[in-house]
Amino acid sequence: MATALISRRARALRGSTTVPGDKSLSHRALILGALAVGETRIDGLLESEDVLGTAKAVAQLGAEVRRDGAGTWRVWGRGVGGLNEPAGVLDMGNSGTAARLLMGVVATHPLTATFAGDASLSERPMERVMAPLRQMGARFTTRSGGRLPITVSGARHPIPIVYELPVASAQVKSAVLLAGLNTPGATTVVEPQPTRDHSERLLAHFGAETTIETLRSGGRRITVTGQPELAGHAVDVPGDISSAAFPLVAALLVPGSAVTLEGVGVNPLRAGLIDTLDEMGASIVLRNRRQVSGEPVADLVARASRLRGVVVPARRAPTMIDEYPVLAMAAACARGTTRLEGVGELRVKESDRLAAIARGLRAAGVTVEETQYSLTIVGAGGAPKGGARVAVHLDHRIAMAFAVLGMVAEKPITVDDADTIASSFPGFVALMNRLGGALTVASGRQPATRSPKPARRRGGRRTSPAKTRKAGKPGKAKKPKRRARRRGGRR
Ligand code: S3P
Repeated sequence: MATALISRRARALRGSTTVPGDKSLSHRALILGALAVGETRIDGLLESEDVLGTAKAVAQLGAEVRRDGAGTWRVWGRGVGGLNEPAGVLDMGNSGTAARLLMGVVATHPLTATFAGDASLSERPMERVMAPLRQMGARFTTRSGGRLPITVSGARHPIPIVYELPVASAQVKSAVLLAGLNTPGATTVVEPQPTRDHSERLLAHFGAETTIETLRSGGRRITVTGQPELAGHAVDVPGDISSAAFPLVAALLVPGSAVTLEGVGVNPLRAGLIDTLDEMGASIVLRNRRQVSGEPVADLVARASRLRGVVVPARRAPTMIDEYPVLAMAAACARGTTRLEGVGELRVKESDRLAAIARGLRAAGVTVEETQYSLTIVGAGGAPKGGARVAVHLDHRIAMAFAVLGMVAEKPITVDDADTIASSFPGFVALMNRLGGALTVASGRQPATRSPKPARRRGGRRTSPAKTRKAGKPGKAKKPKRRARRRGGRR
């Protein structure tokens, strides 16, 4: 039985906090660490189920992985082309990023590996990565519809390709670039719309030869030169803007709030939510801008604001793709109508997010219109009714988005599965409550509530850090016991 989460109207949110490390960068730091020679030290690693799955998988592929303390991990890689065939199945849990990026890595190693995932991931499209990787010489055996579990037989003699992305997807781009690492010659990805460029930045950080050309169309052409010697590097992972989005939007919506989110990654290809909220009239100030491991970082200061509806153009979608669920909650409280255009990709995320948002908002008394590629939300101009029970379908961001809506709605909102939040944001409930939220876990069993750096109320002290788990042994990256996942296809 999943643990339900009840979110009630909150008093003003106040305080200053960090949020857990960036998920995209955490996966990539572990993967590149595994492909580098020597030690990679990662600070601020997101210790969520998704990322712990990647740590375990790279250990199964032969890297040595050790946890030194909260968020501090070390990886000793095997060098490009040096990974081993894993003895067991690689369990990707709920993570599309882990599955697709690691399929790219394995595709050009002469080994066979089987990838599996939970009920949500087993319904997600994988042909988008298999198509280019087949051109590079990899072979795949899949369940019907090209779904997981998938067995990959990597190419013995990989072929470099030039691949134009048919969908704006950083995961597909990254899978091809990672496959290109162990491919002689130049592997090129052309993206019609720029997507998050963490792979490119981190590849350069680890010493790979990459070139990035901006096209007249606004797209990009990214080339990696194969078979480099990558050297282990230190990586400092900034806070995840996709996680910061939840306390940020909550602070805008709950009257009287003022919240600072420290050390958040503000890569322009991830920060579309801030631009959109800005257009909606939000008070968000970026302070103390700096660079951390080649990524722009800032502290975000958000104050309660009266928001108005806007049109969010399709071209912005790649820069805020994971933030639409929480943006929809802001739109539900805004004055006027908000239209989200060109968001068809949301139908193939951890759940069909357009359907899940529309169903949940309607249940909370909000008028929503849904097409295959867009969503129109009629804002309540204040607190929506609420009083809904929302099914989250193994989707962490749907769970957190509706928890945010419950903080402002007239009546409480219950999300039916709080456990799934551990995929990306361990400590979410505790962090929101420290800021002044009123979230309760229905069964009395707490979901993962550890946060790397706990919140402190303004002017107050940080609460004492959660006890760190014991450091594991090299090559034995153990993740905490997974909760039992419900079975059955995605609705
Ligand atoms: C990610 C890319 C995005 C995003 C996902 C993380 C990444 O997926 O939704 O949460 O780390 O590359 P797509 O590439 O499918 O758009």
